[in-house]
Amino acid sequence: MNLPSPTSPDPEKVKILFDGLAERYDSFNKIASLGLDQLWRKSLIQLLNQFELKDKKILDLGTGTGDLIFDCLKNGLGKNHPAFLGIDLSQPMLNKAKKKLLLYESEACVQLLQANGTRVPCASNQIDFVISAFLLRNVKKVLKEVLFEIKRILKPEGKIFLLELVAPEGIFLPILHKIYLKTMLPLVGKTIFKNSWSKDYLSETILQFGKPEDFSKILKEANFKDVSYISLTKGMAVIHTASY
Ligand SMILES: C[S@@+](CC[C@H](N)C(=O)[O-])C[C@H]1O[C@@H](n2cnc3c(N)ncnc32)[C@H](O)[C@@H]1O
Repeated sequence: MNLPSPTSPDPEKVKILFDGLAERYDSFNKIASLGLDQLWRKSLIQLLNQFELKDKKILDLGTGTGDLIFDCLKNGLGKNHPAFLGIDLSQPMLNKAKKKLLLYESEACVQLLQANGTRVPCASNQIDFVISAFLLRNVKKVLKEVLFEIKRILKPEGKIFLLELVAPEGIFLPILHKIYLKTMLPLVGKTIFKNSWSKDYLSETILQFGKPEDFSKILKEANFKDVSYISLTKGMAVIHTASY
């Protein structure tokens, strides 16, 4: 397979990759993260839930199979009637999301659209909150455009909550983490995805994503305000927060 480069992933190749992973993506996520992916999304949802969400517009960038929106609704955010827009490059991932979100059809307004994060199908100054889970590593090549687009669609004072996997810091944990990424993860990936497994793409994008402070710096340089981050599970995941 012609894989995207972990340091500079081309959106067209990323799309082909996730098209091939869509069918078994959810099972892989749960097994490969030992269920931590759900805990991490829940941490993001708790941050989001501290704000008034009544009738607000929430964009989930790189919504994939819709788990972040699904978990928002599962955790009761639907009672505030926010409108969700989920966008993703991969239509097969969105097809999975559509099926899953049918469960909450009566409770929430959810729109799912195939689009690149560099060009969100939404007018300017419309969105109150931009959320994402595990997208950032995949948009490294087009990060400037994606951040520009986030600013375009956010309302003044709109907020962002971006969850991503990172390499933890310290002495022993980084070694164990790397061993896991290089041995167990490929084993699980190959077993679940067979020939669609993306070889080193997942592990390398995590290892090469950079430190949370570096991403905070990028957000500040892009003129976001109140830039901060929260480390989760000894620094294996991070939620970047900021406002515009
Ligand atoms: C690792 S998955 C995360 C999916 C989901 N957010 C979750 O929590 O499991 C990354 C998703 O981002 C999408 N993606 C990657 N690059 C994108 C881009 N430039 N614009 C929109 N979506 C993108 C992929 O198609 C994929 O579905």
